[in-house]
Amino acid sequence: MARTKSAYVCSDCGASALQWFGACPSCGAAGTLVETRAEKPATQRHRGVAPESRPQPLGRIEAREAARTPVGLDELDRVLGGGLVAGQVVLLGGDPGIGKSTLLLQALAALAASTTGIAALYVSGEESVEQVALRARRLALDAAGVQLLAEIQLERILDTLGTTRPQVVVIDSIQTLYSDALQSAPGSVAQVRECAAQLTRYAKHSGCAVLLIGHVTKEGAIAGPRVLEHIVDSVLYFEGDPHSSFRLVRAIKNRFGAVNELGVFAMTERGLRAVSNPSALFLSHHGADVAGACVLATLEGTRPLLVEIQALVDAAQAPSPRRLSVGLEQTRLAMLLAVLHRHAQIATIDQDVFVNAVGGVRISEPAADLAVSLAVVSSLTDRPVPRDVVMFGEIGLAGEVRPAPRGQERLREALKLGFARAIVPRANRPKAAIPGLEVIAIERIEQAVQLLRGL
Ligand code: TYD
Ligand code: MG
Repeated sequence: MARTKSAYVCSDCGASALQWFGACPSCGAAGTLVETRAEKPATQRHRGVAPESRPQPLGRIEAREAARTPVGLDELDRVLGGGLVAGQVVLLGGDPGIGKSTLLLQALAALAASTTGIAALYVSGEESVEQVALRARRLALDAAGVQLLAEIQLERILDTLGTTRPQVVVIDSIQTLYSDALQSAPGSVAQVRECAAQLTRYAKHSGCAVLLIGHVTKEGAIAGPRVLEHIVDSVLYFEGDPHSSFRLVRAIKNRFGAVNELGVFAMTERGLRAVSNPSALFLSHHGADVAGACVLATLEGTRPLLVEIQALVDAAQAPSPRRLSVGLEQTRLAMLLAVLHRHAQIATIDQDVFVNAVGGVRISEPAADLAVSLAVVSSLTDRPVPRDVVMFGEIGLAGEVRPAPRGQERLREALKLGFARAIVPRANRPKAAIPGLEVIAIERIEQAVQLLRGL
């Protein structure tokens, strides 16, 4: 009998190694390698080419646009690129409690209630069917046509899918499933990967659309197994400040549509409601323009995000003025104040300066410099930055405004959220004009300060 070998799998990127290392040889993350039993391959490898896997000339293949089934929730359909495609596998990631289960239950309810009556199945691994039904009742969802199944064993789920043949199935969540074929615990990289792969295989041969819910870890990856992002067709993130009722759905990968599409929902006692004009939402924080606030187009991981940066500059009460920052780097703030003084003659020597990134986000990238500096100048001079202006750019010690990575994506996000003007580093100026967005390119901090006077 063959000895079972150990393999070491990275809980972050899913790469496997034959021996243990302190840091993953693939992604470099420290202490993420976990010992797992090396699994036997599920099937024997085929020798030779089966008839159905012969290559065909591309020119002879009839390419058809995949038919889409709109879910019926407009904001979700927008992110999906118009609706679900038969056999599509979607991963919906998000923090616990953000509303993933509710969103997909609402989606299934809408599908089941549509005129064509789509057969929809909701597989819950986290809650009992009674709990799911109770929530549906509490949120007054018309989910009568949705089939419910409380099950966490993959093989039994696949059997049920084979006999009931739903057209759309939700798995809540992929981390609770386990397959009998593996010995590792549910939620381990090996299990999550195997279950997702089997469900994907099922989706592809049956044409059933599979929606997987995945929890996100602190680092922001969909529960360690990044590998899932490669297996599935579409990856959506459901995010939002837990203290606010607004929720965003964002596509970060979509084989059947555009990425970086944004869907906006408001959380209510009656479930999620679409917000059709999201820019109004992001611009309506203040009744009128206020001094000391700037909108920054930043990147959170790979995702563009608009964040309001606030500054308060006030006469210092003590001999040594205070410099405080929340969500931004304190040392960087001191540096920016020195640059403003030296190159733009903005003196804050006798002023307390407080800056804050709204919504509790932490911004560590230097591209926030321009927004922080202009928020400070705006507060000091009591001159508001108009609300349709967004900005980004790093500031160097010589007062130069340096480019930021992925400027185009930041601008696209700004346009999507209804901003009309953007102040950007010269090197980030787009080659072609963007309809609806006036891009103002600058090279130096004093130019930005000058610009603020004329806005
Ligand atoms: P839930 O969908 O269970 O979050 P997740 O699956 O991401 O962990 O939602 C958490 C709680 O919030 C749940 O008790 C229902 C409630 N909720 C509302 O009351 N209204 C809403 O619009 C949403 C989305 C959730
Ligand atoms: Mg849930």
